[in-house]
Amino acid sequence: MGKFIINGGNPLNGTVKISGAKNAAVALIPAVLLSDDICVLENMPAISDVSIALFILSELGANVKYINKNTVEIDPRGVHSFTVLKEISEKMRASCYFLGALLGRNKKARVAPPGGCDFGVRPIDQHIKGFSALGATVTFEGGMVDAFAKELKGAAVYLDRVSVGATINIMLAAVKANGLTVIENAAKEPHIVDLANFLNSMGADIMGAGTDVIKIKGVSRLNGSTYSVIPDQIEAGTYMAAAVITHGDIIVDNIIPKHLESITAKLIEIGASVEEYDESLRISAKGDLKGCVVNTMPHPGFPTDMQPQITAVLSVSNGVSIVNEGVWDNRFKYVDQLTVMGAKIQVDGKVAIITGTEKLKGCPVSATDLRAGAALVLAGLAADGTTTVGNIKYIERGYENIVEKLTALGADIKREDEKSDYITTVTA
Ligand code: EPU
Repeated sequence: MGKFIINGGNPLNGTVKISGAKNAAVALIPAVLLSDDICVLENMPAISDVSIALFILSELGANVKYINKNTVEIDPRGVHSFTVLKEISEKMRASCYFLGALLGRNKKARVAPPGGCDFGVRPIDQHIKGFSALGATVTFEGGMVDAFAKELKGAAVYLDRVSVGATINIMLAAVKANGLTVIENAAKEPHIVDLANFLNSMGADIMGAGTDVIKIKGVSRLNGSTYSVIPDQIEAGTYMAAAVITHGDIIVDNIIPKHLESITAKLIEIGASVEEYDESLRISAKGDLKGCVVNTMPHPGFPTDMQPQITAVLSVSNGVSIVNEGVWDNRFKYVDQLTVMGAKIQVDGKVAIITGTEKLKGCPVSATDLRAGAALVLAGLAADGTTTVGNIKYIERGYENIVEKLTALGADIKREDEKSDYITTVTA
């Protein structure tokens, strides 16, 4: 298993180019199943979650061909299967999107319950509520989720809680249903808008994505499309946090600054200076960092996927900070690892109280999930001495070329083992 070895203390300087968004890419890939023709997806991040999603598509019978490292051509016309097996489904959360996409394409889908980061219970009741409203029957048999429908009919679906996954899955199932589907209390994340834009570019009729009411008028067919994935909001936020925790000065390029507003505002409160441009921003932190209160919540609130990274920054910020996790039941498992590095953090349920310490100390730690791993990398960049971050298969699920990007910014980081535990390449 690979690990990162980081010698901390170098302030980051220079420019980092942000890759395509993981959570958009893993929704767009299954969406291709709804097309009657070839689609080309550009600006795809070269990360293992994307490889897994493409592998699932190819197992279903699609022809998947890389044009270059970040551009993939997918021909879904040969798809013959509607089953995604456990061995592959459990590797990532987004495999559940194949339920909605296969249901929308074939009116039947058989997908093993998805895996993904362990933040406590991760139910799919709201996904099922949506499929059922559209006329599907959903059952659990032999460790698989089965969904089928004679006909999918547009319907009103009110989500009992804001769910990114349920919003995406219902959009996928509804786009070719007969009539109008209205999703109320929908999630508003940038990747929801990106999925709607991609589907509309294929000929779908979706309005309201980015607000909490999404209206989908079913269409009978979707064409092929060439589409570029939006930049990754969380990757950008992670590099911004890296600049702040190392008291550096970097340009974060290839971004949509509007998607970063809540992160930018919080880092300014902590002591950063930020200058925004059209598709980039400059962030620096020269003086002392100040503690603050962070409440994670659905977009446009502060994203839960930046919670571990901001906690790492707050662990070396003056004073007492409070982080309230408002999305997941159990997203503080990584705190033990930061504590080993000298952070002073007390967790009580969904709240962490952080007393800033002057310096973290490098030592061996281990990633417990994707963003937790990113937080440990940030802590290692700021710490005295050498930090070894184990379990980096989690980090490689979501950060393209993290070692190369950080090295180019002046960090002293290397990867010890070439081999990832996840599938890393898929060819046609
Ligand atoms: N929930 C339910 N019932 C459902 C669905 C969700 O109760 O049917 C609950 C969840 O248990 C959670 C909350 O609703 O407490 C939000 O869950 P959501 O469905 O929004 O999360 P998700 O779709 O499973 C996506 C991202 C996560 C990110 C969350 C929240 C992808 C592939 N994953 O997960 O990203 O944390 O939205 O923004 O898009 C990450 O990238 O590191 C990551 C974990």
